[in-house]
Amino acid sequence: MKNILIYFGLVLAVVALYGFAFTFAADEGPDGKQVFIDKKCAMCHSVESVGIEATKKSGAIDLSKAGEDVEADFMTKYLLKEEKIDDKAHKTKFNGTDEELKALVDWLLTLKAEEE
Ligand code: HEC
Repeated sequence: MKNILIYFGLVLAVVALYGFAFTFAADEGPDGKQVFIDKKCAMCHSVESVGIEATKKSGAIDLSKAGEDVEADFMTKYLLKEEKIDDKAHKTKFNGTDEELKALVDWLLTLKAEEE
């Protein structure tokens, strides 16, 4: 009887360890939306399509469609102030890791008008 309990204990431990491994695997790398929030982009921007409200009261630019007609490379450079839109560089230069920037850009590129 005691042996069976030990056996079940071991099986449980193995299952639990697998569970942990999966959680970590799914959690790899920063999340773009979280980077957006952490880097305070929402000070000046809302993303209404995903429910992010700008903290600034007026004049916030909504980025719900920021991913339209834009390449990852351009977006990356724009956020680093190496590229301009309509002859204007972005207000702020992204400060964070390359990984964070990549996650952020990947996420921004998913922001498009919904197709009807
Ligand atoms: C201090 C205010 C401010 C902050 C903070 C800010 N932005 Fe902006 N952003 C602007 C303004 C203003 C524009 C419009 C272009 C211009 O006039 O410079 C803009 C434009 C953009 C655009 C281009 C929109 C388009 O399609 O024309 C993107 C994308 C963008 N911002 C992303 C971000 C991201 C990502 C962050 C956070 C890392 C961020 N912004 C933080 C002020 C800000």
